[in-house]
Amino acid sequence: MNDSTLQAQIDAATAYQEFFVPALFQEWAPWVVAAANLQPGQRVLDVACGTGVLARVAAACVGAGGAVCGLDANPGMLAVAARLAPDIDWREGMAEALPYPDQTFDAVVSQFGLMFFGDRLQAVREMLRVLVPGGRLAVAVWDSLEHTPAYADEVALLARLAGEEAADALRAPFVLGDKQALKALFVTAGADSPSITSHTGTARFPSIRAMVEADLRGWLPVMGVNLDEQVIAHILAEAEQALGRYVTAAGEVVFASPAHIVRAAKA
Ligand SMILES: C[S@@+](CC[C@H](N)C(=O)[O-])C[C@H]1O[C@@H](n2cnc3c(N)ncnc32)[C@H](O)[C@@H]1O
Repeated sequence: MNDSTLQAQIDAATAYQEFFVPALFQEWAPWVVAAANLQPGQRVLDVACGTGVLARVAAACVGAGGAVCGLDANPGMLAVAARLAPDIDWREGMAEALPYPDQTFDAVVSQFGLMFFGDRLQAVREMLRVLVPGGRLAVAVWDSLEHTPAYADEVALLARLAGEEAADALRAPFVLGDKQALKALFVTAGADSPSITSHTGTARFPSIRAMVEADLRGWLPVMGVNLDEQVIAHILAEAEQALGRYVTAAGEVVFASPAHIVRAAKA
């Protein structure tokens, strides 16, 4: 990777940390570490750690006597993660081929990455492989789009003004909402008695423009969709009406963002 590609990835990850983490991801980290029942002194792996919000909460749980590793495919995400928490062991790699020996970790956690893995079954098998017997696994995924009306409204807006490719890029995070299929994935991978709990989080953006611009300029390019400035301007203008019902008296955009947490153990 050349310097300008890496810098572009760092810039995108910096924007992700600034705009998406506080708005959508941060509140889930304590729920996921609770599902993994993390204890002081444990060794923990965060798979698809992004800029490391979950790994940082895990590190606080396991304390100085424990150890946390964060793995992600994107070096820009890892550069931002390392800046925020230099003491965590950040590693570039693929969830489908974890670069750790068998039985390295007491717990493996992951939030909002599984839906993007090319081979989800192999990734869950890998998570189980690196766990010690009896080790705990906790993985969060978003509920379906039909249970997340604000994003369903934004997807409809994109389909109308930018086409199905752009709409599909925004649908992608919500493809693992079916609980039965999700559970079956973990059973097939060999997880011991997986169970799923659902929580409703609260997404919070400073404005409609901030939310939609983060998606159009921050998320769609990650999914390979780059829109013309004219199309972006048109979407931002129409979003004020399409998403108006989620604006609070204080002018923020606030809406329910439900997700599932799969918890399982290694037999
Ligand atoms: C929506 S972000 C979630 C990041 C982080 N867990 C959080 O809560 O902020 C999804 C992450 O999955 C990573 N990712 C996608 N496919 C991957 C793969 N096959 N292996 C490792 N990481 C992957 C991306 O680079 C990205 O950082």
